[in-house]
Amino acid sequence: MLDIYKLGDDILRQKCKEIKEFDSALAMLADAMIETMDEADGVGLAGPQVGVDKKIFVIHLQNQEPMVFINPEILETSIETGPYEEGCLSLPGVYHNVIRPLRVKIQAQDLKGKAFVLDADGLLARVIQHENDHLKGKLYIDHLNEVEKELIIKAYEKRNSPKKRKSKA
Ligand code: NI
Repeated sequence: MLDIYKLGDDILRQKCKEIKEFDSALAMLADAMIETMDEADGVGLAGPQVGVDKKIFVIHLQNQEPMVFINPEILETSIETGPYEEGCLSLPGVYHNVIRPLRVKIQAQDLKGKAFVLDADGLLARVIQHENDHLKGKLYIDHLNEVEKELIIKAYEKRNSPKKRKSKA
């Protein structure tokens, strides 16, 4: 299990570096990320969220195999957009509607460095965009207006304040 970095940790705001070595250490990182994501009941997890400023994210949707995306690049997004209530393992306990394109075409590499292209819609398209943002130092709350963003940060801080944690212990 890896530690999950939370809002306020600088690494969540950094731009990630390209991965050039497709070795066993990378495979082990991907495995550990999948395990950490599954354990936390998440559907996606990006490198910076586990303290790794590299271009990697993993996705695991219900009834599907886990997926690994390395050096991803979103090639196309649909003109049609829509809202969906997003959460993030780096901001546990708070959720907000985010408007994003409904479909994306993404290119990435697998654990062996082999390139692939994927057309995604539905929840997969949503999670791909959320995780890809993480690699650019961006969080879903950055898509909200200032008032919404402030409210959700306040709700997050209230929920995760030391006092609250103490009462739950
Ligand atoms: Ni996230």
